Amino acid sequence: MSTTIEAHTQEAFAAAVAQQRAAEHPTVPHVVDGEELFTGALLRREDPSHPGLTVSACHDAPAELVTRAIAASRRAQREWRRVPLAERVERVRRAIPFVEARLDEWAVRVALETGKPHAGARGEGAEVLEILRFYTRYAAAPKSFEDVRETDPSGAANDSVLKPYGVFGVITPFNYPIVQAAGPTVGALLAGNGVVIKTSHHGPWSGHAVHELCQAMDLPTGLVNVVHGADEPGRALAASDVDGISFTGSVAVGQSIVRAFAASAYYRPVIAEMGGKNPVVVTDTADLELAADGIVFSAFDLSGQKCSALSRVLVTPGARDRLVDLVEDRVRELKASDPIDADAFSGPVISTESITRYERVLAAARAQDFRITTGTVADGDGYFVPATVVSGVPADHDLATVEHFLPLLTISEVATFEEGLRVANATDMGLTAGVYTGELEEARRFLDEIEAGCVDVNVPGHATTGWWPGPQTFGGWKGSGTTGKQTLGKWYFQQFARQQARKVS
Ligand code: SER
Repeated sequence: MSTTIEAHTQEAFAAAVAQQRAAEHPTVPHVVDGEELFTGALLRREDPSHPGLTVSACHDAPAELVTRAIAASRRAQREWRRVPLAERVERVRRAIPFVEARLDEWAVRVALETGKPHAGARGEGAEVLEILRFYTRYAAAPKSFEDVRETDPSGAANDSVLKPYGVFGVITPFNYPIVQAAGPTVGALLAGNGVVIKTSHHGPWSGHAVHELCQAMDLPTGLVNVVHGADEPGRALAASDVDGISFTGSVAVGQSIVRAFAASAYYRPVIAEMGGKNPVVVTDTADLELAADGIVFSAFDLSGQKCSALSRVLVTPGARDRLVDLVEDRVRELKASDPIDADAFSGPVISTESITRYERVLAAARAQDFRITTGTVADGDGYFVPATVVSGVPADHDLATVEHFLPLLTISEVATFEEGLRVANATDMGLTAGVYTGELEEARRFLDEIEAGCVDVNVPGHATTGWWPGPQTFGGWKGSGTTGKQTLGKWYFQQFARQQARKVS
């Protein structure tokens, strides 16, 4: 089920991917109450770069298995919640050397299942490492969990502590199949909860890595359970009596979970990270080369399949023509290809459904006579979609207002910076946003007025993306996220706990 080849260079990574393609694919088990199970219909995951090739398989967990997993986690959580915080931190830290030794191996899985090129595929394990380091450091900080007050007017001993909710469901997306399973799991565990993880059916072998890293923590049997599958296990988790949910994925599914939980008899947290329709405003005074570099990377890295991806540029008239030229020049150079190709800027999209969506959106753009420029794609039957920039699109057109989750960028003209800011905010979403301007006052106003959780000002290389544990936090406002306490940051894991004030005489 694993490769031992070192994959820390592109060459070695390509060799390791090729070796695994030639080997037998793994079938990953559900893990419920410490037992490996193969229940449910078989689901094969094809290599999106070579769809005839099965690279992993799992079984579609029935609802009944999810119920068993929650029950097992509840039993184990009774023991885990009594483990002192310092020891929980120490146990979670045991996963650090385990992950350090697996960056290359996990990169291969991620590349095979999701088509991520080397940097992004290896970045999965690297980001998990930072999550482990930062979350445990924050949890270990004095008073991160306990706020002790020493006196009470009645003379009773008085304190206030954070306690776990119980068991969290963790529903994960395909685009960060390890990171987005590991982050909430680590947060929930540090706070003393049990976990039931539902992996993405596009990346079950990748998602399974989180079970492996949890094994390195020596947790009570059944505390962390992993179920694989398509829609049924996710729906079962959302409809269950689980004590909280972490969800990363589409707005539609996230909001349906929020609504279902809101109908409960009492509050249960939904920590949801959803979509974005992320804008960049570029003004006449901007450094346009800098802007074009950041725009192209943020729009087309991971084939635009990131919630943080840039999808709409709002540019003022004096910068428009030159910016369009600079972006188009760069887009023509981008190639979507097998991640083992050294010249692959991005890999395939995740499924044929994404290709159909692209074709539909592109047909709408062609019907309007918008100006369209594309990159190239590799030969073959891989799910390759070219980086595509559509310019001259009215800012209120569907192309520029709907999240497509594709390598598709629109450029729209706005009369002024003020109009750009207003249009940038004219959406129900609010995840990431950026501005390129030479005017300090415009930069200040953007920071002050933009409705987004993550904001870039004149950043080289990234216009809206590139948020990393420690230095940055990550999360959405408005329809893009539920909590306002962002992942990667120091207040993240406290959301998995609730406060209890105590007076004891
Ligand atoms: N960390 C990613 C980025 O910043 C999003 O999850 O682009």
